[in-house]
Amino acid sequence: MTAAAFPNTRPRRLRTAEFIRAMVRETRLAPAQLIQPLFVAEEAQKGAIPSMPGQSRLDLDELARECVELRRLGIAAVALFPVIPSERKNELGSEALNPEGLIPRAIKAVKSACPELGVVVDIALDPYTSHGHDGVLDAAGYVDNDITVEMLRKQALVLARAGADVLAPSDMMDGRIGSIRSVLERDGQKNMVILSYAAKYASAFYGPFRDAVGTKVALKGDKRTYQMDPANADEALREVELDLNEGADIVMVKPGMPYLDVIHRVKERFGVPVAAYQVSGEYAMLRAAIANGWLDERKVIMESLLCLRRAGADMILTYFAKQAASWLAEETT
Ligand code: PBG
Repeated sequence: MTAAAFPNTRPRRLRTAEFIRAMVRETRLAPAQLIQPLFVAEEAQKGAIPSMPGQSRLDLDELARECVELRRLGIAAVALFPVIPSERKNELGSEALNPEGLIPRAIKAVKSACPELGVVVDIALDPYTSHGHDGVLDAAGYVDNDITVEMLRKQALVLARAGADVLAPSDMMDGRIGSIRSVLERDGQKNMVILSYAAKYASAFYGPFRDAVGTKVALKGDKRTYQMDPANADEALREVELDLNEGADIVMVKPGMPYLDVIHRVKERFGVPVAAYQVSGEYAMLRAAIANGWLDERKVIMESLLCLRRAGADMILTYFAKQAASWLAEETT
């Protein structure tokens, strides 16, 4: 700054009191922008998740009650993830196609308890495969893209017919959005929303999620032949462009906080609705520091969510959704 400008320009004037800070605030967070991921289990598997303090595997009755509460707080939607008993898993993940399976029953439970709450379901095979990968393995142990896409489009149809509002393919197979979109069109499901996990990274931040759904013990190797390299951002733009061309309505970047640059570039380049997923490892990290008294719970959680919005996310999948919504209900500015 030049000497002449001082003291005429004082950015601190707009920071002197809360009323003025609130007037110039560029980004806001609202419960309607939050999606609560929930783990759904059969009664025998329900209970707390040690690596995600405060989160648990819910049976269908608990799920229905939780959803009523979330809706009361103004939460937009829930994203459902199943805990599949190991005796129902196999190499192909064929339980994913069962119209009476856990997720179809969970969709019905949520919709009958709380019809206005949006229901997002994951399209991927990893909770259902005995090896924990998101697709079908060939003889060499490589996830076969096209056979997997055939499974995913069937899974998508089963879950669409079960009454889901939003399908969220999280598998990172090539061409799956177009394939799912065409099967939906042919089935007359023209308004089914596809929220694509378009830029999903092969991240170490998914560890607690894999504990929660019980895929960690079985998982052989890693997911680097289909999920993206954390080193790449240009590639994320290519992935997003493909998914939009294939018929995605909303694109997601995942994880959240370590990938703010990617969220920002996607929003800038395409101007479409963007979702960010603050994943299980981000949740566990914050919870651990909060439990130790090293970070202030409310401030750090709200900052972590606001920063995802500032980077360009229109909506956020976060395990803190319920907590954040209840704090937002207390705020006046
Ligand atoms: C599975 C899926 C994963 C997550 C969402 N869907 C895990 C993975 O890809 O291994 C991670 C979510 C989280 O960590 O909170 N397709």
